[in-house]
Amino acid sequence: MKKFLVAMMVMAVIAGTLFAQGSAESGAAVMLNKDKPVIFYNRQPSDPTTGVIDMNAMNWNDKTMYVGFDAAGGGAVQGKLITDFLASADPAVIDRNGDGIIGYVLCIGDVGHNDSKARTQGIREALGTWAGSTDPGVVQEGSVNVGGKTFKVVELEGKAMTGTDGSTWNANAATDAMSGWATKFGDQIDMVVSNNDGMAMGCLQASNYPAGVPIFGYDANADAIEAIGAGKLTGTVSQNVDAQAAGTLQVLRNYLDGLTGADVYTKGISEPDQYGNKITADMMWVADTKALLAQNVGVNSSNWQLYTEGTRDAGIKQTDAPSKKVILTVYNAGDNFLSSSYVPALRYYAPLMNIELNIVQGDGQSESSCLDKFTNLGNYDAYAINMVKTNSAQDYLDKLKY
Ligand code: BGC
Ligand code: CA
Repeated sequence: MKKFLVAMMVMAVIAGTLFAQGSAESGAAVMLNKDKPVIFYNRQPSDPTTGVIDMNAMNWNDKTMYVGFDAAGGGAVQGKLITDFLASADPAVIDRNGDGIIGYVLCIGDVGHNDSKARTQGIREALGTWAGSTDPGVVQEGSVNVGGKTFKVVELEGKAMTGTDGSTWNANAATDAMSGWATKFGDQIDMVVSNNDGMAMGCLQASNYPAGVPIFGYDANADAIEAIGAGKLTGTVSQNVDAQAAGTLQVLRNYLDGLTGADVYTKGISEPDQYGNKITADMMWVADTKALLAQNVGVNSSNWQLYTEGTRDAGIKQTDAPSKKVILTVYNAGDNFLSSSYVPALRYYAPLMNIELNIVQGDGQSESSCLDKFTNLGNYDAYAINMVKTNSAQDYLDKLKY
């Protein structure tokens, strides 16, 4: 059976090669899947334990790139948002039990995800609780300025929010955790910090949420921005989803238009492309990891109006670019950031750039839920990949080998 399969595969490869040569001779070059553009986005191929970038995946072919945002910088932005808030707050209000300690609880998204790790680190560094590890519970006592006075800081508990189905960044798990924390720690809780908005909004859903306790998220999802306006959420961070979604598509467009070298990450990004399009926000190019990154901005009661739903980038207009087909995977159809912010942005910008997107979505826990829908690959001109596990890039690339 095995021999038969191998023989079949060899024949398929030979047939593929003949076909490719045949059409090249007749004028229409057929591109093999392995030579087509591959963009990883939102989940950077990396080791879930060490966070080290998977450069084998990033060097798959000369049209491979990661499009995301400055994760490390973002952790620092979230940390500063929190310390700035505390610096101008009234200590008598913040320190609920008056013990001179600021106690906080932390919702961790996914211990194996670089974005989550960067936020845990940024928050702990800002509050002085960083003890060299992003793991839950590995913390030390910190200190922070609240309204001109120095307070001790204690991370009462940090927990990875994993759903009963195994999915990460799980908002329901955050609701459950918050109600447990409110019971367990009572008025020792002076602040709630979350690696994303979905989990922060989940905490606010807990029926025993301690009213008025400051709470911080990340992503600037529409419902979180509304909650800031309504005075329920204290702050969040925008990772500039429009720049990322438009950036993913722009880089695909550039590769598909035959651009090479620096043109791929500058045209339409730091300078107008041939159609006159340009993403308005600044993006950063990191050559070492082949990564194009959007910047973060802290959002709170002073600037939330700038981040209300549907504020799209006017720098991207309808083009007459040749139509191209792209299959794009989403690791979890239930992820609140991707489903409420990223995918709607993709659906807005893709038709403007004449990219026909086929979006296939997984369940957030088993790689096969996503991988099994990554099929009919010869029908597409390029690929955009968001894996369930950050170390699964090769499983997708293996399917593009022929
Ligand atoms: C977002 C999270 C989201 C995750 C999915 C992160 O960048 O902040 O909200 O769950 O991406 O991979
Ligand atoms: Ca206290």
